[in-house]
Amino acid sequence: MKKARLFSAVMTLVLQLCWIGLATASDKNAPAALPFQLPKETGALLDRYCLTCHDEDTQKGDIRLDNLAELEGQKRLDLMNRMQEQIYFRHMPPKNKRQPSEDERKAVLSMVSSELGAHDASTLEEKLQKPEFGNYVDHEKLFSGEYKDVPGFTYDRRWLISEYIFNAKFQKMLENVTMGQFKGKRISLLGSNKIQNLSLTNPFLLPNISGVRYYANEDLTGGHLSSMLTNAQKTSEYITNTLVKAKNSKFLPVISQIMALENQQAATLASRRLFLETYIAKVCEDLYGSKNEAMLQTFKPVEIKPIEKPPEGETYKKAPIHVAQNMLKELGAETTVYQFLLNPEHAKKSDDEFRELCEKTWFNLGDHERKIQSRMALLREYMPEFRSIIEKDQHKIKQLVYAPLATDEMEVIKTSILKNRKKGDHYGEVIRKCVTDWEQEFEQQRAAQLFICKSFQVGFGG
Ligand code: HEC
Repeated sequence: MKKARLFSAVMTLVLQLCWIGLATASDKNAPAALPFQLPKETGALLDRYCLTCHDEDTQKGDIRLDNLAELEGQKRLDLMNRMQEQIYFRHMPPKNKRQPSEDERKAVLSMVSSELGAHDASTLEEKLQKPEFGNYVDHEKLFSGEYKDVPGFTYDRRWLISEYIFNAKFQKMLENVTMGQFKGKRISLLGSNKIQNLSLTNPFLLPNISGVRYYANEDLTGGHLSSMLTNAQKTSEYITNTLVKAKNSKFLPVISQIMALENQQAATLASRRLFLETYIAKVCEDLYGSKNEAMLQTFKPVEIKPIEKPPEGETYKKAPIHVAQNMLKELGAETTVYQFLLNPEHAKKSDDEFRELCEKTWFNLGDHERKIQSRMALLREYMPEFRSIIEKDQHKIKQLVYAPLATDEMEVIKTSILKNRKKGDHYGEVIRKCVTDWEQEFEQQRAAQLFICKSFQVGFGG
């Protein structure tokens, strides 16, 4: 039941649509019925300027203009469109023939265009929006001064440029310049191969030969828009990811400003961290004096597995020294061991004393127990070798000499340690807390700066 009703409704609709289609089709022929009268004055003008070549006897270009009124509707409109174009563009009468005065010309044009307008049949309007008609602005009128007080008018036009110009514009914007040779001279050229992954798409394809064109008669489609958006995105990514990072402050000066602060903060942070990681024990001893020991956890040495005895009849074979050297490095113990060995005061300690010094250092830093065990196992086996490396390669490994940072930096570090260090904290923990503090502080500084930049932009209308 329901289906049947739906079906009949659809059918009715379809039929109505057909009927409307028919109605418009016959509307087109409607002018046939409308009477057309050529105004006398216009008739006289055509007579004077056109009919010598376009009457029944002399139909130049197969055009006859003496029987306009007798022509069937659509034919007359077609012919009048051709007349309008010829007169508008001053093709007719031919250049070397008698020309109508400006008023006469206007009179013919206005008759033709009002007749065409009455049937909404003018094709000139539409043609004028095409690129090939772009230059047909009436230049006499344009420069006569007659309209100097009137605001300029043009259709909204879509400007299209050939892909070569399109590419060159992007290259220029991105300052992608290279040097080249031209007639023996060095000149700068647009478009080096620096930009590799920036494959932009010209949303409008023009034939290679054409330079610039503009259209007022075609729409932008979603396709054009989407390639334009993609281009914009790729370009801005290139600017923010590559050009700005390359410290090119010409692009997005605000970003460079923000980046400058961020870079400077990162450098400060890195220098404080490195300083603390190397000298935290010394800084704390200086800062806390005799109370420093009490702030630390009581030293608990790790236990390491006893060396397994080799099976009966076999001898235990040590891995070669370079293997041990690499392990020391991988376990993050190289600096501690070598630096202590470079220090004559520590170097003269017995192996056991030396090992305890290292272990205490790592324990105080809060290094992982498992890691300390591995390091200690290595030191148990290779102390003589490590000593000999330092004796042999002394000149290769530089001894670190304590040098404080700038006074204000030292103040910041001391203040931060005093604020963050709790009793029982490993040094590593103290460093982490200080760094976190500074990171937060820097972040706030950046946020404040961003706020200033934004207010600046808003204040000046972006
Ligand atoms: C001296 C002769 C001469 C006069 C005067 C003359 N024409 Fe023409 N006309 C021609 C010739 C020749 C052609 C065909 C060759 C051409 O298109 O240039 C032509 C072609 C045309 C065409 C067809 C063009 C096309 O391609 O659509 C139109 C329309 C036309 N004339 C209108 C006029 C009108 C309107 C006038 C008067 C204002 C006029 N002509 C005056 C010689 C003349």
